[in-house]
Amino acid sequence: MKVTVGVSGGIAAYKAAELVRALQRQALDVHVVMTAAAQQFVAPLTFASLTGHKVITGLWPLSSGEAGSGEAELDSSIEHIGEAQSTEALVVAPATAHVLARFAHGLADDFLTTLYLATRAPVIVAPAMNVNMWEHPATRANMEMLESRGVRIVPPESGALACGMTGSGRLAEPEVIVEAVVGQLHRRNDLAGEVILVTAAGTREAIDPVRFLGNRSSGKMGYAVAEEAQRRGARVVLVSGPSSLRPPANCELVSVVSADEMRRAVLSRLDQTTIVVKAAAVADYRPCVLAEQKMKRTGPITIEFEPTEDILREVVLSKRPGTLVIGFAAETENLLEHGRSKLLRKGADAIVLNDVSRPGLGFDSDRNAATFLTPKTAIELPEMTKHELASRILDEVIALRRPASFVAETGLVSSNSTLRE
Ligand code: PMT
Repeated sequence: MKVTVGVSGGIAAYKAAELVRALQRQALDVHVVMTAAAQQFVAPLTFASLTGHKVITGLWPLSSGEAGSGEAELDSSIEHIGEAQSTEALVVAPATAHVLARFAHGLADDFLTTLYLATRAPVIVAPAMNVNMWEHPATRANMEMLESRGVRIVPPESGALACGMTGSGRLAEPEVIVEAVVGQLHRRNDLAGEVILVTAAGTREAIDPVRFLGNRSSGKMGYAVAEEAQRRGARVVLVSGPSSLRPPANCELVSVVSADEMRRAVLSRLDQTTIVVKAAAVADYRPCVLAEQKMKRTGPITIEFEPTEDILREVVLSKRPGTLVIGFAAETENLLEHGRSKLLRKGADAIVLNDVSRPGLGFDSDRNAATFLTPKTAIELPEMTKHELASRILDEVIALRRPASFVAETGLVSSNSTLRE
């Protein structure tokens, strides 16, 4: 299997040689693309010798003096398309702040950035730079943009940096990058044939024509699940409450407002669905009466609420046999106890239990941590980005499809997970 390593111009460029070796030990056929700046740090000959392949060093291999033949120019100008189509993964290590910015903004002014735009293979980037550059809001914004488009980020490690400063910015170790690459290769199309219905964001229950009862869900968690599922080959239906997020391209978006609208949207699509993931924060109560006109401010008021229908429970009761149902549970105390009782009450195959009282996680943040709870296991998924978490949740969902005999024979329950009985 062919993978392409992109080397950009930082002091860590020399570590890319070790990465190439580590990837080769996974029986991968490694090809290397270098930016002009990378060639200031390491000679292309190093990578050519390691890989046995020509190293691609620019969009235009012939200098203008040599470029006499139109045929040669045409060959060089389409080389990036050939590379883009033939590679199974693009791994950029080290990725400089400049290369990440060019990826984020679609600037294609050399071979590596052009390849990035042209390829449909998974892209993994391992940034390395000065700590201030890594923490700069511009770099953070670029990273967020790339991640929301499906680029897998292997964050830099903390420690003494080549610039003399100490902090985050050191290229991750080769084995950590290799693990991310192998993970991406395994996940390619592993959800092909599945139709996944994901619910996301909060519902709004109208009180009068201008007011509603809502909650803090932004939709980020559910949208991340939808994006990751689609990237892995599933057909995705995203049933979303109001959200400012852009839905993933090519998924079927069903926009709803209230719990009742979400219920109808979900139940009417169940017969075409093979997996349901309910990440939405659905209102548990709605006003018993909807005021027809804007309510006037007169003094203390009392509004009577009635419970909404439990959509997750209804899904479990009316799904087709074989459809997997995954709920979420947002808790603030006694997590495992509440999570387990919710799992039993709702009858779902699994519950993704998250602690929404932890600062920086849960509602409206880009990061989250969870426990993937099934009737028999509790798998810890530690703090990570919501995209990474979405992918790990999908790994666990796929594992639920494996026959028990497979797990017993291989001992393979989930990679990198802590399993508690
Ligand atoms: O959207 P973000 O800002 O990224 O935040 C993500 C999140 C915190 C909203 C998400 O990770 C999460 O926890 N979603 C579930 C929130 C929730 O409503 O949890 P719950 O414990 O109240 O409900 C349990 C399950 O029942 C959920 O799957 C919920 O969708 C479902 N439910 C709840 C009420 C109801 N009437 N019908 C339901 O189906």
